Amino acid sequence: MSALKVIPDVYWVGAVDWNVRNFHGHTYSTSRGTTYNAYLIIDDKVALVDTVYGPFAAEMIENIKQIIVPEKIDYIIANHVETDHSGALPAILKLCPKAKVFGTAKCKEGLDKHYYGNWDFQVVKTGDKLKLGKKTLTFNEAPMLHWPDSMFSYLIEDQILLPNDAFGQHYATNQRFDDEVDGYALMEEAAKYYGNILWPLSPLVLKKIQELIKANIPIKIIAPSHGIIWRKDPMKIVNAYLSWAKNETKPKVAVIYETMWQATEKMARKIVEGITDAGLNVKLFDVTQSDRTEIIKEMLDSKGYIIGSSTHDNDMLPNMAGFLHFLKGLKPKERIAAVFGSYGWAGGAVKNIEDTLKEAGIEIAQPSLSVRYVPDGNELKSCYEYGKSFARIINK
Ligand code: FEO
Repeated sequence: MSALKVIPDVYWVGAVDWNVRNFHGHTYSTSRGTTYNAYLIIDDKVALVDTVYGPFAAEMIENIKQIIVPEKIDYIIANHVETDHSGALPAILKLCPKAKVFGTAKCKEGLDKHYYGNWDFQVVKTGDKLKLGKKTLTFNEAPMLHWPDSMFSYLIEDQILLPNDAFGQHYATNQRFDDEVDGYALMEEAAKYYGNILWPLSPLVLKKIQELIKANIPIKIIAPSHGIIWRKDPMKIVNAYLSWAKNETKPKVAVIYETMWQATEKMARKIVEGITDAGLNVKLFDVTQSDRTEIIKEMLDSKGYIIGSSTHDNDMLPNMAGFLHFLKGLKPKERIAAVFGSYGWAGGAVKNIEDTLKEAGIEIAQPSLSVRYVPDGNELKSCYEYGKSFARIINK
């Protein structure tokens, strides 16, 4: 992708990573790829806001060269240390060795420990300003959104927020703006991004957004460092973040199971029938077949989770154990759950799932449902009723 004008004298000079399918060491499946967004601001002084993942450094440099010779870059703003945004810093700094790098104190620490670059670095704090000429950048520390070093930059005169990871999406397209792409896919990727990356940080997200709203900062454009730039309706993503950060949910259910010889699966399908007949939206996921990133996206705005597993070695099956471990780390709040599963003799899965969900802060809304070996007609009826009664609790 070539450089692209965001507004006069502000350019996107990033890279589109069409083919990446796993991100963050396989913690996130990027089924639609991603982008690494870097922005070049041209004024009396030239500033580059963020860079790209290292393997895309040459592409970013080519994009910069379409606008200016890289030697002319005076300032590089490092909003975030993580390598998908800082990986190209060493390469670009070789071409503009006199450029000064700006970031938080934690950013300096982090960059030093990544690149050992001994660069000219200026630590900035919330409220600090950097005059470029007619345009002015200001900075707002945003610790843990997404790392301790993170900060938002803001181009005052043009009212552009450059929040790095926040408000981003892993969404590779040849379009750059929210008014150009499929709105459904865009929000789906934004939700996936929030659910899988920012969900456990919700209290901080909420605090930061409320702080920005209170400060009455006018925002015309939100230009994150992944995915699409919000220019048509930046408040759409801000309001979605507010809702997710407040753990607001819809009356819907995600049923997630792992099965050994399909007995637990039979139970799951009947439970889904019961929920459906009670009039609720429900989705069924076999944890061994479904993409974890997608399941989490569905769980982000679902009020209820029903979790099932066959018993193996007096415990849940291992893929479910891994999934629940990941879920626990996301710290979901205000959710209710129920648990089911089949067993042969001693059992154990259901109890351990309940314990794990409780540890995750999820309330168990009704007693668990166990079936020995394969469910018969009456037991399947109980599964159906189990789904119905859970739906009634959700609807209360
Ligand atoms: Fe896109 Fe936290 O890096």
